[in-house]
Parts: sequence; structure tokens; C-alpha cells
Amino acid sequence: MDRSRITIFDTTLRDGEQSPGCSMSVPEKLRLAQQLDRLGVDVIEAGFPIASDGDFEAVQSIAASVRRPIIAGLARACKPDIDRAWQALQGAAHPRIHVFLATSDIHLKYKLRISREQCLEQAREAVRHAKSLCADIQFSPEDATRTDIPFLCQVVEAVIAAGATTVNIPDTVGYSMPEEYGQLIRTLREKVAGIENVIISTHCHNDLGLAVANSLAGVQNGARQVECTINGIGERAGNASLEEVVMAMRVRADRYPYETGLASEQLYPTSQTLAEITRVPVQPNKAITGRNAFAHEAGIHQDGMLKNPLTYEIMTPQSVGVPDSRLVLGKHSGRHALAMRCEQLGYKFERRELDEIYRRFIVLADRIKRVQDSHLLELIRDFAGSGFAAPKFPPAAAAIPPLARAASAVAAGHESYTGHLPSPNHALRANVFGEHHEQEDYLWGV
Ligand code: KIV
Ligand code: ZN
Repeated sequence: MDRSRITIFDTTLRDGEQSPGCSMSVPEKLRLAQQLDRLGVDVIEAGFPIASDGDFEAVQSIAASVRRPIIAGLARACKPDIDRAWQALQGAAHPRIHVFLATSDIHLKYKLRISREQCLEQAREAVRHAKSLCADIQFSPEDATRTDIPFLCQVVEAVIAAGATTVNIPDTVGYSMPEEYGQLIRTLREKVAGIENVIISTHCHNDLGLAVANSLAGVQNGARQVECTINGIGERAGNASLEEVVMAMRVRADRYPYETGLASEQLYPTSQTLAEITRVPVQPNKAITGRNAFAHEAGIHQDGMLKNPLTYEIMTPQSVGVPDSRLVLGKHSGRHALAMRCEQLGYKFERRELDEIYRRFIVLADRIKRVQDSHLLELIRDFAGSGFAAPKFPPAAAAIPPLARAASAVAAGHESYTGHLPSPNHALRANVFGEHHEQEDYLWGV
């Protein structure tokens, strides 16, 4: 086992979909799963097949058409759930059954009304049954962080003996503190027989805003799978945000010397795809993918950015697929600008297709002042659904000139402002180049 490789388990389609207002239809789930595949996640938890026919169908269709990642289906620790999950996963190239059972006294007493002994037996039996169907079994002791630790160790040991290959440790109610969560993972590694043969996973909720910090503490203490969601959506305050976990490990590789298989330039397109599907906007100051994440408003910051972006940026917008935000799309925008933004979002069109996209874009831009990325994605989706050939997907943000090079060229007086300079945001350009006229942006590329 490569100890530095972290498995990214995306649960946007399962735990994420449980957030109020985030439910998705089967075709929408399939579309997001395809984008998650492009992003490079290792595991997609596609749903909870016994929960509804729609969930079953979504898991089934994702299993049939998304072939590279592992596809997981959730099941409670009982035969009907496990059988239904397995049925939905039949077509998967790499199926995983994810069985869960609460282990904290509070859940056992008030929710499940079973004793610890019954819980232990049920967990063991469920994993044994799942293992008789599928080689790849994940077990989650729900509410693990509020479970009596010796009992948690007992359950984890029992499910490993019964065949679990991944053991996930959920902080179901987002109660844990980073040192505490890290210590829990360490204790399991020290006390549980057989734990060295399985992958330990984190699953942290964000009720105290600590989901990402807890996940990273888990990794530092030996967890090698992180469960997370795009834009951090999920039950209540959400789950650990995938983009934050991944970029924290990438930007601070000095402290977190771990790797993931992710194509980080697909983070922003994935975030926008989810926002467009659910119509739940990304909070403006959201780390990595919020619209202000690379915006610089204060004069001192703008000055520093132009001298050297390293003064105020710890990663480039391009590295996470954030398009050149200088390029504002409105009714005066040209085809070139539109084509470039489409490419930055992952869609490349033939000339004839672009003509039609452009026609629809102008109609839309006439109605709304500015066409945001989410509007554009919606337009592309409608276009693809109206009989035109499926769009092609180039590597994201392929042709964006590096921000640092362009910015320093201007700072050194080698380049004048032609409208082509990739600047990090609107406010920066407005301040540096005098009065800002939106018209300048609109006319670019016509
Ligand atoms: O938060 C939780 O405990 C869960 C489990 C089903 C893994 O989502
Ligand atoms: Zn959860």
C-alpha cells in the first residue's frame, strides 16, 4: 500500500444530496458523476439504493456508465438494504457496498433501541452478508466520535474480521476537535487487531466549522481515505469540502506530504456544475471556488498582486480551474470570449455548434445583465439536450496564460493593457487602469 496516496471518496450524490434543497434527478446525478470522474475522484458514493426508486436508478445508471472509479452504494446493517445495494451495483466495474450502523450509546438507546451486544452482532452479521456478495466492503460506525472508545474498537475489530476492507470513522454530528479526532484514529491504529490490513477513512461533518481540519488531522494520524463533498454540501452544516481538503494537501505539501489522483483544474468546473444543477449558489467567500476566492479589492493588495501575485495568492486561480474573471460575459461579448469561457468550463464546440450557442447566449444576455458561469452551464446543458452532438471535453483551462507572467509583464512596463491581460479580478483591473468601464470587458474578443 502506498502510504502517501489518499483515496478521495466523494459523497456529494449521497450525503450531499441529503442537504435541504440539494436533491437531484437521475439524469442530473449522472451528469455530476461524469464530472466527478473527470475530476478524478477515486470513489463515488452514488446513493442509498433502498431509500427510493430514484436512488436505486441513479446508482444503477452511474454504475453502468462511469467505469473508472469505484461506485459505492449505502446500506443499513440489514439484509434487505444490503441486497438492494448489491442489486443496484450489479453493472459496476468496481462496486463497493457501504454498510453503516450507529454505535454510540445515545443512538443505541434512543434511535435503534438495541444493546451494545446486539449492535456488535448486527454489525458483524451485516458485514459477513455483504462480503458474501462483494469483495469491497466499507463499514461505518455512525456517530463514532461519541461512541465509547473501547466499544468502538471492539466493533471495528469485529467488522474487519468479518471482511470489511475500509473502516470509515464518522464524526456524524460534527462534534469533534482536530486533536481529538486525530487521536481517535491513532487509538484505533494502536488498539484494533487487523487494522493494518484495511484503509481507515474520515467522514467529518461541519457543525462547528471543523470538518476539513478534522479530516486533515485524521490523515496525519493514519487515515488514507477522506470522505468529502463538492462545495461541502451535506446534512445540516455539510461535510468536509473536497476542494478545500485537496488544495490544503497540495498547497501545504510541506506539512501534508500526501497525494491524490485529482485534476485540480476541474475543481471549479465541478463546483459550478453542482451549483447549476441544484441551483444552490456557492457562498461568495467560499475557499477555492467562491467568486471572491481570488478577488483583490484593497489597494495595497492590488499593488502587491501586480508586483508579484505571490504576495497575496497562495495558489493560482488556474490551478483550480477558475477562469480569468476579467472576462465578463454580457450582450456585447463576442464569440471568441464565449468560446474561451466555454473551454475554461470544460466544453469545446465546433464552429456550427458555437454559432447556435452564441445565438442563445445573446438572447439570454439581452435579458440578464451579466451571464454567470452557472447560467452558461445551464445554457450548454439545454443546448446538448436539444439534439446537438455532445460537447467535447478538453483539459480544463488549457489556454489560459499564466497570471504571474502577464501581471509581472505589465508591472515591468513590457505590456500595455489591451484587454488580454489575465488579471485576477474586476476590482483589481478597475483600480490599476483607472476608471473601470464594464464596456471594456464586453468588447473584448468581439
Ligand atoms: O454522517 C454519517 O455518519 C454518515 C454515515 C452514513 C457514514 O453519513
Ligand atoms: Zn454523513
